[in-house]
Amino acid sequence: MRLTTSTKHDYDMIMPLQTVSTVHELRRAIASARHGGKTLGFVPTMGALHEGHGSLIRRAASECSFVIVSIFVNPLQFRPSEDFARYPRTREHDQALCAQFGAQLIFAPTVEEMYGHASFAAGEMATSTYVEVPGISDILEGLSRPGHFRGVSTVVAKLFHQVQPDKAYFGQKDAQQLAVIRQMVRDLHIPVVIVGCPTLREEDGLAMSSRNRYLTPEQRSHSTVLYHALNEVKERVQDGERDAEFLRVIMQGMLDDTPGCVRDYALLVDSTTFKPLQRIEGDALVLIAARFGNTRLIDNMHVTSEMKQA
Ligand code: PAJ
Repeated sequence: MRLTTSTKHDYDMIMPLQTVSTVHELRRAIASARHGGKTLGFVPTMGALHEGHGSLIRRAASECSFVIVSIFVNPLQFRPSEDFARYPRTREHDQALCAQFGAQLIFAPTVEEMYGHASFAAGEMATSTYVEVPGISDILEGLSRPGHFRGVSTVVAKLFHQVQPDKAYFGQKDAQQLAVIRQMVRDLHIPVVIVGCPTLREEDGLAMSSRNRYLTPEQRSHSTVLYHALNEVKERVQDGERDAEFLRVIMQGMLDDTPGCVRDYALLVDSTTFKPLQRIEGDALVLIAARFGNTRLIDNMHVTSEMKQA
C-alpha cells in the first residue's frame, strides 16, 4: 500500500461517504466539491437500493469525479391507494451500497425539507409550484397512475436545482419516466446531461426493482412472464414479423395465461413519442405493465426492424 504519493484516483477511492439531509448542507458539500474541480454525477433514487441502482452509481463514478445519490421516497408521485407508506426504507443497507458502488455523497432529505411540511393528505396541495410535462405524462403509466409523472417531474426539477449536476443517470427500466425527464430538461433548458442506462435483471430475467420484494414466492416465479413476453416479441421481430397488433395479441395471451397476472397494458410504441404502433418500421419499444396481487411491475425492451437473425 502506498502512503506517500496519493494520485487523484487514490484520493477518490479513500474519500469517505458523507450523508446530508438538508439543502443547506448539500449545497455546502457540493460547493466544496466544485471548488476542488470535481465533475458532479447525480443518481436520484427512492432508496431500497439494488444492483440496478448500483449500475447507475457505478456508471456515474466511471464518468464523474464526485457522485451524489439522493434517497427520497417522494410522496408526490404516489396516489393515495399506492404503496407510499409501505415502500421499503433500508437506510443502512443503502449507505453500505452507495459506498461500495463508489458514491461520495448521499442526500436524504425529509418530506418537510423538500416540501415545507411533514405530510399532506390525499388531494391536498403539496407545494405551490409544480412542474408538468403534458403529453408524454398523460399516456400509459400516466393513465394508470394519474398525477404520478407530475410528482416525478416536480421532485426531479427540485433535485436538479439543489444539486446542479453535470450529468444525471436514469434507468431505461422506467422508459417513460426517462422520456418525461428528457423532455423537461429540454423545455426548461436545465444544464444537465441525461444519461439513460440499461436495465439490470435477475438471473431468470425479471427486471430488478425495489418492489420485487413484495412478491410471494409463487408470484415471483410467475413474474418472469414479463421478460419472456418481451423476448418472444423480440425473437419474432428478429424473424421478420412486423405486425405490431399481432405481436400485442401474442404478449397479451402470454400474460393472461399466467396465474395471478393481471395485465394493465402490453403494447408496441414509437420509442420517442410512445404512441402505439400498427407496424414496426425502425425503432420500437415494447412495454408491459402487470399486477401480481398488490404489486405492479413494469418492464420494456427495444426492438428494431433492422434486427437480423443471429
Ligand atoms: P427508483 O425507483 O428508486 O429508481 C431510481 C433509478 O434507478 C431510476 O432511474 C430507475 O429507472 C433506475 N432503476 C430501477 N431499477 C433498475 C434496473 N433494474 N436497472 C437499471 N436501472 C434501474 O425512479 C425513481 O426511483 C423515482 O421516480 C425518482 C426518479 C427517484 C424520482 O422520485
